[in-house]
Amino acid sequence: MLELANKRIVLGLTGGVACYKLAEFVRRAQDQGAVIDVVMTEAATHFITPVTMQALSGRPVFVDAWDPRVPNNMAHINLTRGADAILVAPASTDFIAKLAHGHANDLLSTLCVAKGTCPLLVAPAMNREMWLHPATQRNVTQLQADGALILGPAEGNQACGEVGSGRMLEAHELLAELIAFFQPKTLSGRRVLITAGPTSEKIDPVRVLTNRSSGKMGYAIAQAAREAGAQVVLVSGPTALDTPYGVNRVDVESAAQMHAAVMSEARHSDIFIAVAAVADWHVANASDSKLKKNPDGKAPDLQFSVNPDILADVAGMADGPYCVGFAAETENLHQNAEAKRQRKGVPLLVGNLAQQAMNADTTELVLFSQQGSQKLPVLPKLDAARRLVQEVARQSSARPR
Ligand code: CTP
Repeated sequence: MLELANKRIVLGLTGGVACYKLAEFVRRAQDQGAVIDVVMTEAATHFITPVTMQALSGRPVFVDAWDPRVPNNMAHINLTRGADAILVAPASTDFIAKLAHGHANDLLSTLCVAKGTCPLLVAPAMNREMWLHPATQRNVTQLQADGALILGPAEGNQACGEVGSGRMLEAHELLAELIAFFQPKTLSGRRVLITAGPTSEKIDPVRVLTNRSSGKMGYAIAQAAREAGAQVVLVSGPTALDTPYGVNRVDVESAAQMHAAVMSEARHSDIFIAVAAVADWHVANASDSKLKKNPDGKAPDLQFSVNPDILADVAGMADGPYCVGFAAETENLHQNAEAKRQRKGVPLLVGNLAQQAMNADTTELVLFSQQGSQKLPVLPKLDAARRLVQEVARQSSARPR
């Protein structure tokens, strides 16, 4: 599915080395179906040429307010009408100051004043001292008060050789922010704790006991919750997946480590979604040195102990978060999942068939609650996650902590 299908974005470039990142951004946004109209300040043309941006966007690039190509000479009006968002990236110190004061003395600043209800997203890019300057901070606060969304900036190495805050977000991060912008903010200001992936239980230094969870569903839910405005902590077993943008990931291996990480976060969380496929047992007599083949040909004598039930422990907390469980079943989904929901004491449990969901990119979820069950269609995991997050937001807000 194209994340930015039918979206027309006005991309405003101002003067900054970070202009080079927008070449990549335009390509990636187009891959997601966006139509991009590029507007550049004169300063931006010193860093990347209009020719490059035109070749990439496939559309005319606008720099001058007096552009003879525009029949009515009103590019500042034409471009914003019907646009879904204006993204100013990189936004220089000077341009942010202009925006905060409502200046309209070049095409891009005029367009930002003439935009009407078109949303404005601003990605600052500047030296750390310029970013920290009280005037810049005042201007940014003013822009936020005027309804602009500030993206970043990030911390790190700067083009000037200094290190600090003021780096513009990377192209893929800008894209993640833009996609998230169009999602409903149903979890705004809420803290969501999620477990994902398998656990890995040590047998000896080179062998583990694990399961076939890829972590894809839990990671998709973490992304969807973040897009919905939540602060997300993802406690993850070993997976090969990239951390979703803006999500705080805590890596663990064993069920005991996952339990400890979750219990220390749960008290500060509003919602807990347990997606991890937690091993039910660990090896009680795990060895610190590699187990060698028995000369008599016998398999090693492994003994198992039961792992803590993380979901049940969080659900049992006094004043704990709203809890959502998962159940991947191989048969009798309805009976097994509803029984599990009651056994774990959670208001919402999400069931699916393990053989369909394992390692797949799509899933068919069934939501079980006290009100009964609700089946979602077969969807890509991210779409299913977004639907689930909306439902969790609705049900959890109906139940105050
Ligand atoms: N879960 C957990 N801690 C465990 C086991 C499971 O938090 N030690 C959570 C899972 O993350 C999931 C839910 O409980 O949200 C159900 O997991 P599942 O393995 O299906 O449940 P079990 O209680 O292990 O039941 P079964 O007998 O089917 O294995």
